[in-house]
Amino acid sequence: MKQTCIHHLSQILHIEDQGRLKLRGTEMQHFPLSEHAWLLVEGSRIKDFGTGTPPQADEQVDAKGGMLLPCWADSHSHLVYAGSREDEFTLKLRGYSYQQIARQGGGIINSALKLRQTEEETLYQQAAARLNELITLGTGVLEIKSGYGLDTESELKMLRVARRLDQDFPVAIRTSFLGAHAIPPEFKNERDAYLKRIKTEMLPAIAAEKLADYLDVFCEEGYFTLQETLDLMEAGAQYALPAKLHLNQFTSLGGVPAAVARKARSVDHLEVMEPADIEALAHSDTIATALPGCSHYLGIPYTPARELIDREAVVAVATDFNPGSAPSGNMNLMLALACTKMRLTPEEAYTACTLNGAAAVDLSADYGSIERGKVASFLITKPGRRPASLPYHWGHPHLAQVWLQGQARQV
Ligand code: NIG
Ligand code: FE
Repeated sequence: MKQTCIHHLSQILHIEDQGRLKLRGTEMQHFPLSEHAWLLVEGSRIKDFGTGTPPQADEQVDAKGGMLLPCWADSHSHLVYAGSREDEFTLKLRGYSYQQIARQGGGIINSALKLRQTEEETLYQQAAARLNELITLGTGVLEIKSGYGLDTESELKMLRVARRLDQDFPVAIRTSFLGAHAIPPEFKNERDAYLKRIKTEMLPAIAAEKLADYLDVFCEEGYFTLQETLDLMEAGAQYALPAKLHLNQFTSLGGVPAAVARKARSVDHLEVMEPADIEALAHSDTIATALPGCSHYLGIPYTPARELIDREAVVAVATDFNPGSAPSGNMNLMLALACTKMRLTPEEAYTACTLNGAAAVDLSADYGSIERGKVASFLITKPGRRPASLPYHWGHPHLAQVWLQGQARQV
């Protein structure tokens, strides 16, 4: 197998030398790094790294004094959607809230009506174009949700597109079935019938094609109740789908303690948190995922990630990339917002955007840190960058090379 040695690295960031699959609380601050280093890639894996004289290899790559860090692991996105909702942006700027826009026929239903009319191939092309941009920005692990189909055929269509992206791109993609994202218009006055449809038709069809890795629900006033969410979690568990849930975006409905007690893989959003919600996540194995791009765009509170880390929770940071509440899929910006808006240190923010993000989609045995044997998906910055430089000079183009699954791209 071909070996490539990358030398002249100012440092390697986020080496995990104890095989830990996620870091909680105070551990998030501490990870070893190596200075004046080299890294050896063999095929699609990291073979070795170290300091001093670089080893012989089939190819030598000069990193020109750049810093090497793991690729971003974005554990919450809605990358597969049809068209755009830029028209809602103007309404938002005129002062309409997310809920008001949804009541006027915007929101999730707007995206669902567009997606139903979009051919699978077109949907794939639109999503692939977005994914190419995310690759340039350094994302190498990505979760993608359904939830803009809201009927069996269209939900399957979304998930098939996500699976095809996983095949075609050097990004590790995991999928979540989010049929319970909103009640579709044709079931407006029959929510129980829609819930039954999810359980008896959509879930079996998705499971038969192995299209989903997780089950998601939008638990929120005006969307799905806590009881409905728990019932759906149970239905998902029958198909061995762990839960990743949209909780506490606008309201605390008690979903966090209930989801933690039922061993949800992650609870995401968490902008509105009661003391009992924070208490439930302290020392828990359920990953608390903050989505600072959504807080920024909607002007809602930021997740109390500082407090969650201080209470020894496992915190991840993701984009929530979607056309309605978080139109940016740029993890570099999320890293910066994690520091400036949620008061994470740069080290904690890197952990949240890499190892803990990968853990939130059960991929941290292969991604999320620099370890011998892990997949060679990492980023190399331009010269002169130190760990704090990326969130400090936020919005700047820091990356020089993106390596995904052993393949290099100049950016
Ligand atoms: O995570 N909150 C629910 N779902 C998305 C928004 C979906 C949309 O507006 O299209 C979110 O914010
Ligand atoms: Fe979301």
